[in-house]
Amino acid sequence: MFVAKTIQEIRRFLAPARREGKGIGLVPTMGALHSGHLSLVDCCMSENDITVASVFVNPAQFNDPTDLEKYPRNPARDMELLSAAGCDIMFMPDVKTIYPRPDRRTFDFGELGNIMEGKFRPGHFNGVAQVVSRLLSIIRPQRAYFGEKDIQQLAVVRRMTLMLGLPVEIRPCKTIREENGLAMSSRNELLTPKQRENAGLIYSTLREAAEMKGKEPGELKIFVTKKINSNPLLEVEYFEIVRSTDLRPVESRAGLDEDLIGCIAVRTGSVRLIDNVFFPNFDPL
Ligand code: PAJ
Repeated sequence: MFVAKTIQEIRRFLAPARREGKGIGLVPTMGALHSGHLSLVDCCMSENDITVASVFVNPAQFNDPTDLEKYPRNPARDMELLSAAGCDIMFMPDVKTIYPRPDRRTFDFGELGNIMEGKFRPGHFNGVAQVVSRLLSIIRPQRAYFGEKDIQQLAVVRRMTLMLGLPVEIRPCKTIREENGLAMSSRNELLTPKQRENAGLIYSTLREAAEMKGKEPGELKIFVTKKINSNPLLEVEYFEIVRSTDLRPVESRAGLDEDLIGCIAVRTGSVRLIDNVFFPNFDPL
């Protein structure tokens, strides 16, 4: 695996592959890699000749300075994991490489940028759009891979590429979970064993809600919130039921024939966890 730290290094390495018309895929990450990230790498490898994984903890997307400070970092282990997975290039830029000058761009994602994560983490998606657009213009992949765990991020990144007219296909990948159903996340490393065990209730409750028949979004919201909040270690920040097409919250299922998604954020101690569940073929009432 080739490890690049500068734009010049990565451009030089990719130039021959690009000349030969090889397919280049990008997996952007913030490191502290786990099986969720590695599933994106696998997916990328199966669809491209060259797989690039970037590891960069992007200060621009942290609205909370303590969150940035305590974000887990383990570059040596990340390097081993990526190399063992068969990744071709690890791109590990520093802040000056990605932001030689402060990025003052602001993106307007409309309502998509203001609901759920956008509402509870102001500025977060703007920072995500800044870094992802920079990474895409440095690496110029044909495809880039994002996890469905961060479903709103996936939608925001798609919209950003459309807004900027970037010639890249944004590819979604399924959420990978721990044995108790908890969605894998680098932040899970910050949980105590007890918190980690109890956090399994988030996904089991989402699944239960997804299987309920004939319930309106309002009723499902009450059910999910009450059930998760009844665990003293967990506190729901939001639970929204949204359309899978544009992530618009829905108040009623009447007349809807598209898939829905239940999106949740839960606090346990000082750690914030997000997850979601698809409600496929939501039964008409
Ligand atoms: P990070 O949290 O490191 O996640 C990197 C990618 O891995 C994202 O696309 C995320 O959705 C995906 N991912 C995380 N956990 C997953 C899981 N359990 N199953 C499947 N995919 C999972 O998301 C970011 O970094 C950053 O915002 C980034 C896009 C890199 C921009 O800085």
